[in-house]
Amino acid sequence: MSSAVDASLRTPNQLWIGGEWRDALSGKTFPVLNPATEEEITQVAEADSADVDLAVAAAQKAFESGPWPKMSVTERARLLWRIGDLLLENADELARLETMNNGKPIFESRQVDLPAAAACFQYYAGWVTKLEGATIPVPGNYFNYTLREPFGVVGAIIPWNFPILMAAWKLAPALATGNTVVLKPAEETPLTALRLAEIFETAGVPAGVVNVVPGFGPTAGAALVRHPAVAKIAFTGSTAVGKEIMRAAADTLKSVSLELGGKSPNIVFADADLDAAVRGAINGIFYGKGEVCAAGSRLFVESSIHDLFLEKLTERAGKLLVGDPMHPKTRVGALVSREQMNKVLGYIESGRGEGARLVCGGEPAPQNGKGFFVKPTIFDGVRNSMRLAQEEIFGPVLATLEFRDVEDAISQANQTVYGLAAAVWTRDVKKAHKAARAIKAGTVWVNTYNILDTASPFGGYKMSGFGRELGKHALDLYTQVKSVWVDLND
Ligand code: NAI
Ligand code: MG
Repeated sequence: MSSAVDASLRTPNQLWIGGEWRDALSGKTFPVLNPATEEEITQVAEADSADVDLAVAAAQKAFESGPWPKMSVTERARLLWRIGDLLLENADELARLETMNNGKPIFESRQVDLPAAAACFQYYAGWVTKLEGATIPVPGNYFNYTLREPFGVVGAIIPWNFPILMAAWKLAPALATGNTVVLKPAEETPLTALRLAEIFETAGVPAGVVNVVPGFGPTAGAALVRHPAVAKIAFTGSTAVGKEIMRAAADTLKSVSLELGGKSPNIVFADADLDAAVRGAINGIFYGKGEVCAAGSRLFVESSIHDLFLEKLTERAGKLLVGDPMHPKTRVGALVSREQMNKVLGYIESGRGEGARLVCGGEPAPQNGKGFFVKPTIFDGVRNSMRLAQEEIFGPVLATLEFRDVEDAISQANQTVYGLAAAVWTRDVKKAHKAARAIKAGTVWVNTYNILDTASPFGGYKMSGFGRELGKHALDLYTQVKSVWVDLND
């Protein structure tokens, strides 16, 4: 088992406000754990509303005066590109820090989270010089054109499942469009966000343009949502908190974008390449320990192939290496916290109680008596009305359901309050495209799962939220349009 604190890793532990590292005004700190060992990595300064006030004031000042609003677009583009380069240069260290704090396998942090975070900054570096307004052909002797302007101070509130990547998804487009940001990382995983602040400083991001305030949701998070000088909140997290944020943001009429939970259907038709579909189903639910908003947590299998498919699936699940997240061969790491592990184990109990059949896993898998590990778990005989099929578990727990034909599959798939993602597995091109249209979700994968790219939009239908992150769509989330009229009459 890796030690709690790898001495070669930098673990900044203060608040980053106005270009300075500082303690919380209250002097309070909170412990940050390694979920694989349960040991404390460090204590981190705990921001609450007074610190958030300072951070927002710094962001407001940086937005209105100083080098940021005067910076040329080419220089801003270079700055974002440089951040991407620095992430790549420091990728090994940052990946280890991410894994130590979140519990995800090092192969994921190294192969996915870090390259994707760097790519996000470099993708949006390209947009800085391409944000254009329009000239509008209005009647009369007027010249009318539009300007695309930043909101001002953006509050970004992010979860613990992809800490550095979620920071990148929010910071890169917000900065590319000229905003300033106060970032509140999740209380479980503030460490890579703080390292990111160091990287911003090294890259030459002016003081106050980005501020990082680790702290808890009901205190630091809520203060950011309430603050009248914050013009926009970008949130990723639970549907329950998404609702609270939307309600609270109404008081100051903030723009809000929400990326929330999911219960994504992964549909395997009998005519699919079954081995590929098995790999996709495994990746769909066990990647990231299942703590993934787009996780393929409801697996629909066509009745005629059900037994064969379950056999292949269970065999493959049994081969996944569970254990030390720092080990390069580990495929299922530790859940992020004891709270999350208990939530997942509670759903496993409830699944048994509801009459679903436990096929494999179903219990904790501590390593040397420690760590928040849960064995890859598969339930069969699940009905769509069970909690197991309707509520977001956010862990390595797969609910398997059967369907008769295309209509039945689509109808069951859509019977959920969520609509984040979905997948269909079939060799029939027509069936694939028809299903892609019929499923109510922001992303549909055909014969693959969990593929994302910065260039392609991502976000939810229904109660999975609204607003599209990534791609050119995110530019709309972080800008407002101004119409300028000029009288040309003599
Ligand atoms: P959460 O939604 O409470 O936390 C996400 C972020 O929101 C954190 O930074 C947290 O400090 C902040 N927050 C919490 N309450 C807030 C408030 N009142 N005002 C402003 N910010 C607030 O999620 P939590 O409690 O960590 O996980 C609970 C469940 O939520 C998970 O089991 C999972 O089902 C779901 N979840 C979904 C995620 C996704 O990617 N869609 C990510 C994380 C959790
Ligand atoms: Mg919470």
